[in-house]
Amino acid sequence: MKNAATHIRVSVGEIRIDSAERNAINKVLDSGRISEGEMVRRFEVEWAKYIGTKYSVALNSGTSALIAGLTALKHSRQYPKARKNAKIITTPITYIATSNAIVLSNFEPVYVDVRKDTFLITPENIKTYLENVDDPEEYSLILPVHLMGYSCDMDGINKIAKEYGLIVFEDSAQAHGTLYKGKKVGSLSSLSDFSFYIAHNIQVGEMGAITTNDYEIIKLVRQIKANGRMCDCPICTRKITGCPKMRGKENDLDPRFTHEIIGYNFKTMEFQAALGLTQMEKIDWIIERRREIVKYLNEGLEKYSSLIQLPKYDENVSYMAYPIVIKSPEKTSRKKITMELERRGIESRPLFGCIPTQQPAYHYLRHKYEGKLPIAEFVGSNGFYIGCHQYLTQEDLDFVVKAFGAIYDELLE
Ligand SMILES: Cc1ncc(COP(=O)(O)O)c(C=O)c1O
Repeated sequence: MKNAATHIRVSVGEIRIDSAERNAINKVLDSGRISEGEMVRRFEVEWAKYIGTKYSVALNSGTSALIAGLTALKHSRQYPKARKNAKIITTPITYIATSNAIVLSNFEPVYVDVRKDTFLITPENIKTYLENVDDPEEYSLILPVHLMGYSCDMDGINKIAKEYGLIVFEDSAQAHGTLYKGKKVGSLSSLSDFSFYIAHNIQVGEMGAITTNDYEIIKLVRQIKANGRMCDCPICTRKITGCPKMRGKENDLDPRFTHEIIGYNFKTMEFQAALGLTQMEKIDWIIERRREIVKYLNEGLEKYSSLIQLPKYDENVSYMAYPIVIKSPEKTSRKKITMELERRGIESRPLFGCIPTQQPAYHYLRHKYEGKLPIAEFVGSNGFYIGCHQYLTQEDLDFVVKAFGAIYDELLE
């Protein structure tokens, strides 16, 4: 029986620990090593291969990946603009981690409005914003988020970035495997973060990753995630061929305990990476099944499209969830609809809220942005999502369509 304790029938996300997952975890237990080791390295190789970048580094969460990536840019010789307090143009509609990482890394988030249909920031809005600022030199990065699996217009964003000398850092936490013009998101800019939190397409509990083609960035991320230690080799060769950092050195310095930069402990564990590898074997099926579900629900709910905005269907999208926006909140509020769904066992989550005006932690920015991000504020108050994960059955999908029918047929009469 599914989630009997909470009576949830259609969850936002679900993980199944089948025999492949159990075997992978048991192998880690038997290996005698649970902290970062072979499994993490293998996952990094597979993830980079899948996304289409030269490198990937796994970290203990997507938030850590964002912080480590931003910190790496500050230390990089190639990106002098990524200095303390520089401004980063980003989206107001995303999971809070994107903004938190910017602030905690001593940058300043600056928000531009989003598109109504996909909730993404657009090159047009970024351009208009930059054309009207006093000093574009205060800006260092654009941090677009591929929300719900939708890809931002990366050609447009990269073009503006080039024009203004900005770095682009994609947040691909919610878009595992989404294609943009034939390439995977996460491979379309200087670097990208991913999250493998529950409900994401590849899910392992807690873990994140950075992908990049830039050797300097990956080397710095490796250091930053391990308290800034000198070591940056993907595999330690100390016991085999000796440590390359020690060669020719007179002193007895141990690179594992010599710290070149101030970093964090963002290392992950073998269990998560082992689970990640089992999930990767199913990734094509996961993405395809989620797409089928989005298509099916869209067809079933089409008759309510005067009242709710349904997700845009696109064969290139790897859907993280099924987002819905209430079109006429004066007729039915999000609260009412989501409570009705919840009562029937259909879980939902709000579409995050407009960060600078609707998230209490960003209260200090409210005056600056109130009324300036109308679409983000509308989506933030009226958007929510339900699950479209691969374990939903045909009966579950029909149950969802019926539940919306029970709620909305009355309203349409
Ligand atoms: C867009 C986005 N960025 C960053 C994160 C942070 O990832 P994590 O929860 O693994 O720290 C998430 C998590 O869901 C996310 O959705």
